[in-house]
Amino acid sequence: MLADLAVYAASYRATPPAFRRYLPAAMGLWARGRRQARAWAPHLAKSRGLIDTTIDDIGSRRTVVVLGSGPLFDIPVESLCRTFATVLLVDLAHLSPSRRRIARYSNVRQEWRDLMPPPDGEGLGFLAEIPDLDWVISANLVSQLARAAPLERARAVVDSHLDALAALACPVTLITDLEYRVFNRHGVLLDSADLMHGRQLPRSDLRWKWEVAPFGEEARNTRRVHSVAAWPDWREAAAPG
Ligand SMILES: C[S@@+](CC[C@H](N)C(=O)[O-])C[C@H]1O[C@@H](n2cnc3c(N)ncnc32)[C@H](O)[C@@H]1O
Repeated sequence: MLADLAVYAASYRATPPAFRRYLPAAMGLWARGRRQARAWAPHLAKSRGLIDTTIDDIGSRRTVVVLGSGPLFDIPVESLCRTFATVLLVDLAHLSPSRRRIARYSNVRQEWRDLMPPPDGEGLGFLAEIPDLDWVISANLVSQLARAAPLERARAVVDSHLDALAALACPVTLITDLEYRVFNRHGVLLDSADLMHGRQLPRSDLRWKWEVAPFGEEARNTRRVHSVAAWPDWREAAAPG
């Protein structure tokens, strides 16, 4: 508890005033990630592994941008810092543990931005201002954008983020959860939701489960499991035909 307060206080001081309201949610995510480190480990290893291996396919390594970098649980930020001239981590919130993790690298920067598509946020327009952009990674972000939008806008938010990624001039890697299912202790499906709100995504051979809330996390007798998919080259996957 005291450690959490220290993280909150240190993060609060480093956060621009307009973004401080996002700190409680970021603290919640960070705390859950630590609590569920074992349950989340396979998902995080797959996400990190995918990013790590995709580095080899990126020929030019000037600037890489990570969208939704947050607590950096699923980001091999050390590999990125070692291989790219500049690493830009973008999120609504950056907590002090992630700042400590990158402290020894001089080529990494954290930026606070609301990536919600306009008119509610700024979307991805800022990427056009980065002349030496060589890779963009959208890391378990798009479903969160949709979740924060009013239900009637959720599909448009998904479309806008995915289409803006596909229109970028550099390689793009997309990792996202697609749906969740809630089961009871007998394995009976109690609830499910399509996190892409009807948007059909191209097939991916890279699919796995993410045990977001094992028994006891959200309720004693239910667990919530997300299906995750990844596209190392989202532009190619999303191209028509
Ligand atoms: C499921 S978490 C993924 C976290 C991160 N990739 C990791 O390594 O653990 C989703 C992230 O998206 C961020 N996020 C949600 N809505 C956002 C928005 N409108 N603009 C920027 N970031 C946002 C959250 O703050 C959170 O860090």
